Amino acid sequence: MATAFAYAPAPERVRPHLRERYGLFIDGKWVSPKSERYMETINPADETKIAEVAYGDAEDVDRAVRAARKGFERWSKLTAADRAKYIYRIARAITERSRELAVLESLDGGKPIRESRDFDIPTSAAHFFYYAGWADKLEWAVRAGHVAKPIGVCGQIVPWNFPLLMAAWKLAPALACGNTVVLKPAETTPLTALALAQIIAEADIPPGVVNVVTGDGSTGAALVDHDGVDKIAFTGSTDVGKIIQRRIAGTGKRLTLELGGKAANVVFEDAPLDQAIEGIVQGIYFNQGHVCCAGSRLLVEESVHDDIVARLTDRIQTLRLGDPLDKNTDIGAINSLPQLEKIRELVSSGIEQGATFVQAECELPKRGYFFPASFFTNVQTSHRIAREEIFGPVLAIITFRTPDEAIEKANNTPYGLSAGVWTAEGSKNMWIAQHLRAGVVWCNTFNKFDPSSPFGGYKESGFGREGGVHGLHEYLALA
Ligand code: NAI
Ligand code: MG
Repeated sequence: MATAFAYAPAPERVRPHLRERYGLFIDGKWVSPKSERYMETINPADETKIAEVAYGDAEDVDRAVRAARKGFERWSKLTAADRAKYIYRIARAITERSRELAVLESLDGGKPIRESRDFDIPTSAAHFFYYAGWADKLEWAVRAGHVAKPIGVCGQIVPWNFPLLMAAWKLAPALACGNTVVLKPAETTPLTALALAQIIAEADIPPGVVNVVTGDGSTGAALVDHDGVDKIAFTGSTDVGKIIQRRIAGTGKRLTLELGGKAANVVFEDAPLDQAIEGIVQGIYFNQGHVCCAGSRLLVEESVHDDIVARLTDRIQTLRLGDPLDKNTDIGAINSLPQLEKIRELVSSGIEQGATFVQAECELPKRGYFFPASFFTNVQTSHRIAREEIFGPVLAIITFRTPDEAIEKANNTPYGLSAGVWTAEGSKNMWIAQHLRAGVVWCNTFNKFDPSSPFGGYKESGFGREGGVHGLHEYLALA
């Protein structure tokens, strides 16, 4: 009897279309870099070269910005409904090519295919769908009496932890508001942004509306410094964010920064502990902990500390570390060797400063960059592991006795991007959430995202919001 279901290959078996060498995507065309230089992008799970990508220098950035300016003349004059039509096309194409994009994301960056398949790619499409819907409703995004106008040419610099998703967070609202873009992907993970450029070319988006210039920090710096850019949107390290802020000061360019974090995940003794353990695991081990909003400081009420540590010790032993393309993998590869070295260095500092290190026992693949799920107990708030962003699968556990102490410890950080609270008591949840100085607070859950919900930081975690109606304001000039 014929089956009603068509055969669909498992995502990890889909082979992405790969070129040996990628040029820059400028003015709707693939072009060679003026620099004539190329960089390699490797697979961090086995250290093999995947492809070469162009190294864009200041001259290439200049070409891209000029193309974006020309593109702006056209794009900003289209009817909002036409702009929406194009953005919907991008959203649909991402959905149609989701398997291939998921494999590409995991291959280039090391994240588990389950996460790229179920989170990164669908959430990227969701952002384009969401903001496509806003394109012809912008007057409802601003206060009555104001006219919403695009800003102009936007330089967007994205990191390597969620390569396609961060591109989507930035591109979708910018395009919906009528801006044009020069996008600079991160050096270790350029491939999904380049696949997106191909999607944009095939969707017949007018030339120059989206330009993709690959390269390194100096490429990003050239974009920041270019006179033809009206706005910079950056996600990445706090150090680079500060450099960008200094360079932009006094230029009249607009700026949004989404930087690092050291989120507190606060667990009270009355919390549903089974759920809390899963939330803790999701909070710190998702994407190998390469997450700006990771719940990297676990604040536990003293009475349940030993119970939680015992449960967590067992739970991390069940996480499967290995090939990112295996759908059973929980912990994939660390994104790059420098990142692995940074994690190791901070872990050594934790041990030296006297904290107790617990790590899942597992065999590491012979090649590639891997670090097993780990946590520290006996952590002092002064320890580096309690203060600095590790950006790896390493949790610091700290205790508290009262809600006031929990808040004081949670807010005792230069960062303020996200936080979590676990308690069965609704009023306590609300009270804690109100007193935490963090852009996003998750109650009895962690790492939940939706395009309609604004995301962004306080203090050294940056400023500006991405997502929701707030995200539109960052790409509009009011008249
Ligand atoms: P990074 O901040 O150097 O890189 C992010 C992006 O900025 C990349 O596209 C890079 O090419 C670009 N860039 C670098 N220097 C620039 C400059 N001077 N001007 C303009 N653009 C520039 O981050 P990196 O070195 O890859 O990671 C270091 C640490 O930063 C990580 O260990 C982590 O703690 C943190 N980080 C935080 C992220 C977040 O989502 N908040 C994302 C990536 C890193
Ligand atoms: Mg790579």
